[in-house]
Amino acid sequence: MRVAEIKDKAIGPGEREQPVPGLGQALIRVRAAGVNGADPVQVAGFYPPPAEAGVPDDIPGMELAGELVESRAPVPRFEPGARVMAIVAGAAQAEYAVIDERQLMPVPDALDWSQAGGFPEVFATAYDALVGQGNLRSGHRLLVNGAGGGVGTAAVQLGRVLGADVTASVRNEANRAAIEDLGAHRALAPDEAYEHGPFDVVLELVGAPNLVPSVKALGAWGTIVVIGVSAGQEGTLDLRRLMTKRGTVRASTLRYRAPEEKAILARELETSVLPLVADGRLRVPIHAEFPLTEVTAAYERFTAGGHVGKILLRCD
Ligand SMILES: NC(=O)c1ccc[n+]([C@@H]2O[C@H](COP(=O)([O-])OP(=O)(O)OC[C@H]3O[C@@H](n4cnc5c(N)ncnc54)[C@H](OP(=O)(O)O)[C@@H]3O)[C@@H](O)[C@H]2O)c1
Repeated sequence: MRVAEIKDKAIGPGEREQPVPGLGQALIRVRAAGVNGADPVQVAGFYPPPAEAGVPDDIPGMELAGELVESRAPVPRFEPGARVMAIVAGAAQAEYAVIDERQLMPVPDALDWSQAGGFPEVFATAYDALVGQGNLRSGHRLLVNGAGGGVGTAAVQLGRVLGADVTASVRNEANRAAIEDLGAHRALAPDEAYEHGPFDVVLELVGAPNLVPSVKALGAWGTIVVIGVSAGQEGTLDLRRLMTKRGTVRASTLRYRAPEEKAILARELETSVLPLVADGRLRVPIHAEFPLTEVTAAYERFTAGGHVGKILLRCD
């Protein structure tokens, strides 16, 4: 089968044997797989998949959509041919992938293959960060730092449907109108965005340089949820100010969670998020699609930045 392959810290097309599902796993004919922030980091030799996941560390890819070929779950939830999607620990950027069956979600009719391939990682991350960790509620003020990317566009939409007042920090001026179109009450330059606090929840997708201004703009009992650190992982935390706000700083990754935790998150998405996708209230904006054979160009486009929405690899 064709795959995206990491060789000598570079990404390119490759060929591999088709994987065989073990007990409890499903074999998926992948139609589309999203490119995410972790993928170029894995290519550079960092952030490998967890060893216990049993996926090769030289085939990247953390989300996919495709048809179920075979399920070896004790009580299969899907018939062969069913349209499914999932977050995976790795190796999604291939024509076939195996995955813990419990992590599969059904693809709503409203999503085509590219939209489905770009849904799981960013919506699971954004939902878990806002609801699971940030405890975002209707009427809260939410700041999304780095709102133009995949996770940011998911978070802006989820914040809006949850009834929050959503401020989006987007450094690229040309992209701000698109983020407001997705549901942000205002999309602004990073320094202007801080003027719209105090915030109950700050979703941090950029990193450590925002720590000082975010604590300053935090409301009483507010929470900063750190998900991305591409602009830096070490910064200054003003503990006195954090104390006076009764504030919380949380941080998390999805990739290293146990399959059971990922399965629970998939069930939460099925009940709370997929109905909103099915009725068109949540969208998966696509910036560009590339065939798997052009994976190098897809990664170059992703790392160039400046895009709104997802970059997809088509594996059909
Ligand atoms: N912890 C987890 O489980 C988890 C899961 C998924 C993703 N992540 C991380 O979360 C981050 C966002 O993911 P993504 O998929 O949304 O990535 P993405 O599509 O590349 O989006 C990143 C966004 O951050 C902006 N940005 C990057 N560096 C910036 C800087 N120095 N100052 C201001 N804005 C900056 C980008 O703006 P431009 O477009 O202008 O470059 C872009 O809008 C990544 O770091 C990713 O690795 C973590």
